[in-house]
Amino acid sequence: MGDLQGIKKRLPALAELGVDAVWYSPFFKSPQHDAGYDVSDYRDIDPLFGTLEDFDELVSESHSLGLKVIVDLVPNHSSSEHEWFKLALKSEPGSPERNRYIFRDGKGDSGELPPNNWQSVFGGPAWTRITEPDGTKGQWYLHLFDTSQPDWNWENPEIIEEYDSVLRFWLDRGADGFRIDVAHSMKKDLDFPDLDSTNSNAEGGAMTDASIVHPFWNREGVHEINRRWRAVLDEYEDRAMCAEAWVMPLSRMANWVRPDEYHQTFNFAYLETPWDASKLKAVVNDSLKAFSDVGAPSTWVLSNHDVIRHTSRFGVSQNPPQGQGIGPEHEQPDEELGLRRGRAASTFMLGLPGGAYIYQGEELGLPEHTTLDHKYRQDPTYFRTNGEKVGRDGCRVPIPWEHDKKSFGFGDTDTPWIPQPEGFAEYARDVQEGVEGSTLELYKKLLRLRKEYKLGSGELHWLEPLCSESSIAFENNGVLVISNMGEPINLPGGEILASTQQGLEPGGQLNTDQSAWIRL
Ligand code: NOJ
Repeated sequence: MGDLQGIKKRLPALAELGVDAVWYSPFFKSPQHDAGYDVSDYRDIDPLFGTLEDFDELVSESHSLGLKVIVDLVPNHSSSEHEWFKLALKSEPGSPERNRYIFRDGKGDSGELPPNNWQSVFGGPAWTRITEPDGTKGQWYLHLFDTSQPDWNWENPEIIEEYDSVLRFWLDRGADGFRIDVAHSMKKDLDFPDLDSTNSNAEGGAMTDASIVHPFWNREGVHEINRRWRAVLDEYEDRAMCAEAWVMPLSRMANWVRPDEYHQTFNFAYLETPWDASKLKAVVNDSLKAFSDVGAPSTWVLSNHDVIRHTSRFGVSQNPPQGQGIGPEHEQPDEELGLRRGRAASTFMLGLPGGAYIYQGEELGLPEHTTLDHKYRQDPTYFRTNGEKVGRDGCRVPIPWEHDKKSFGFGDTDTPWIPQPEGFAEYARDVQEGVEGSTLELYKKLLRLRKEYKLGSGELHWLEPLCSESSIAFENNGVLVISNMGEPINLPGGEILASTQQGLEPGGQLNTDQSAWIRL
């Protein structure tokens, strides 16, 4: 499954790629029912991944290479193996131990029905009934995700203080900041009303109406928590936090990055935008407006560990909903088309002002594993929907480093935790290294130029004559960034700094699904 020492060996490759920081998905002690997002001890490393000493080494090695370390903190829920949850199960209803989580009596004559109709994001009810210490059927606990992920009670001051202390624990150890998991979910409506058709439980996508007050997503009280954590980070020098808040519309998401809250938040509206010139222009405009209204930089992201890799999303006729995944029985992506569009989309994204996030393997142009045998599935989504949704395993397959080594250089066994498809060999890093026009060399060049021309802190100006229904172009700090989704178009003159199209000449024609950066 990989470990901290393994990552340490690959840090020079990440520094060479040109990223500034590495966000690590959770490595804390965990029974791994949701890839570590079920934490049983927030102050220790899971033996699967190493020790606290390994973490310290990772931090010092990263810093010596100029890389920051971002820790993934999970505040909405713990693991059901957390000591405090085990204590809650052993204690009486109404006890201080139970009050750290959300326990309620059920409905019906003998409490046999869940307290309300809330559904888990992974499928099935969001409540599970427990057996009381005396052996009788008892209360129900809330879990917005898997049954192994009980939600904390954020009304309890003990939980609030516990998280301040966990933040300090990792900051004191040298972490440069946090990615905060489901950063819009901690506060719940304590009347626990049923959801109706306007109040879907879906984590992403459904919350497009800013006027809806939802019983568990985006509640006003979350902002108090944001401010509290920001004050903790501000006690240290040069630390940052980024929110995973699936909050729509963008104007509402921007509330997470007001001056005294988070530094950044993932722009999921951008991630969900198809490869379409007008839609892309609209989402960039909306993002820049929404975030600048609160004085924050926008962010940009195309892939992560929860969504279908963008090279595959752009290769299917219809993008499946979040969490659905692509399995062997679904429409298979057109790999060549998806890769072409994926490279063009990344080249567009990395030219934008703000913060850009890339997901491991996208620098290789890696596609989703869409033919994974179901016997290898790990994602709770697959199990809680009885296979109706195949889930997120297809984007989490270990990336290929060396084409001719066991598990393509990921480890010393033939089969890693999720087996890699044979086709990954041609995407291996060593196959692309130093090869003109490879996706790896494209990303390296774009990241180098992004720094050189200070595009992250630049300003976007649309170049209207080059924008149409099927092309999009802007200028940022003297660099023209152009993407073409339609028939070939003529480019203005000027030095081609980078391009997805092999052999492109200044003033030449930019083909369909290609992007270029030109020095003005
Ligand atoms: C969002 C994380 O990105 C996802 O991987 C996880 O399953 C859920 N939160 C629950 O923690």
